[in-house]
Amino acid sequence: MTLWGGRFSTKLNEQAWDLNTSLPVDQRMAIQDIDGSLAWAKALHQAGILQDEEHASIALGLDTVKKEFTSGKFSFVESDEDIHTAVERRLMDLIGAAAGKLHTGRSRNDQVATDFRMWMLQAIPDLESALKDVQASLVENAEAAGKTLMPGYTHLQRAQPILLSHWWLSHYWPLQRDCERLTDLTERVSVLPLGSGALAGTPVSVNRTALAKSLGFAKPSQNSLDAVSDRDFAAEYLFCATMVGIHLSKLAEQVVLYTSSEFGFFELSDAFSTGSSLMPQKKNPDVFELTRGKAGTMIGTLTGLLATLKGLPSTYDKDLQEDKQPVFQATDTLLVLLPVIAGALRTLTIKPERMRAAIDSTMMATDLADYLVNKGIPFRETHSIAGLVVREAMEKKLRLEELPLEAYQALCPAFEADVYQVFDPIKSVEKRNAIGGTSFQSVKNQIKKIKGE
Ligand code: ARG
Repeated sequence: MTLWGGRFSTKLNEQAWDLNTSLPVDQRMAIQDIDGSLAWAKALHQAGILQDEEHASIALGLDTVKKEFTSGKFSFVESDEDIHTAVERRLMDLIGAAAGKLHTGRSRNDQVATDFRMWMLQAIPDLESALKDVQASLVENAEAAGKTLMPGYTHLQRAQPILLSHWWLSHYWPLQRDCERLTDLTERVSVLPLGSGALAGTPVSVNRTALAKSLGFAKPSQNSLDAVSDRDFAAEYLFCATMVGIHLSKLAEQVVLYTSSEFGFFELSDAFSTGSSLMPQKKNPDVFELTRGKAGTMIGTLTGLLATLKGLPSTYDKDLQEDKQPVFQATDTLLVLLPVIAGALRTLTIKPERMRAAIDSTMMATDLADYLVNKGIPFRETHSIAGLVVREAMEKKLRLEELPLEAYQALCPAFEADVYQVFDPIKSVEKRNAIGGTSFQSVKNQIKKIKGE
């Protein structure tokens, strides 16, 4: 049984059926579909379309269907085209003809958009709480890092010393923006399409504001044509999810680098690394590489949906059925990825001596320029003098702190014996104590801000 057989003389071609069905994908919206139907049945009752007994019987039947789903006892039949038809077919099995009145004034077009939004309203807090746990792991690591130093990079070249805690927190803030984006998005998801009919609106006299409230939506949609075709919320959701994926991927790339023998800054715990089938010595950062890889797939799902939406004629087109798979896939990916990342970050070992050893005095060349700035020389000049110092040291195969004072003074008479203090990386870090800098106090304040203290 399909819901639209009346005007057709033959059954749908078998392969065309396989193409058309969305049940494998949309069955995970079963509960939303039933809740939507319960609310619609109530609206039909209030509008006088369902008599008391009919409404009671539909409500009871839908409750039974819901129980079948929650207990895993629901069985689909071959003719179930999508989740909407499956629920209605089962209701018909259970209560008979009265079930046929449920679809009055409603279309699968407003129904599917409603179900999908309801599903998303539940998925957003799940994503947020998984994200918050990764953020918590980053803060824990930052707090545990104390005053541990590490080299900071630009262009993957050693640049300036920083605190490891500052580096951990540099991955906290992007995820914070991701959480905020998801929260902002909720407002646009929380708009009820139900009551828009197939496209032109419903003839049922229904209070859509009350209907929206009863289903947990903030408000009803204002234009039926837009309501059944709008998938902005899905594209936005995918963007938010993909951005999370990209942030995790950037973090992952650095963990992969820093766990390599060449860097050796971190070591992953055995529980979050994998071995090689051939090389017995290998300990591979697969979970971080997969994180990087999955971000690529997520970018694909976002671009895929945007391409689907481009140039669709008004209003509902079956292309729109392609909207759920990418959203479900991106959500599933993140809900697997996020707890793994949190676990791997919480259990990795830090190698402070390796990070300290990677800081050399040339990384304080900026501090050298700043030293001369404090003697009243303009930065543009001091930058070039510090550059000459670096060149001289390289030519003489000496470290900056090994170059004699006379050599400094030959390049600029303002250099004095205290110049050697510049090469203490702790001093370099501690000087950067404005809001957002890497000094210990600034990082402490950053953590206070995060914790809302
Ligand atoms: N399975 C469809 C989807 O996911 C439901 C809407 C069908 N509407 C229609 N006019 N054929 O989009």
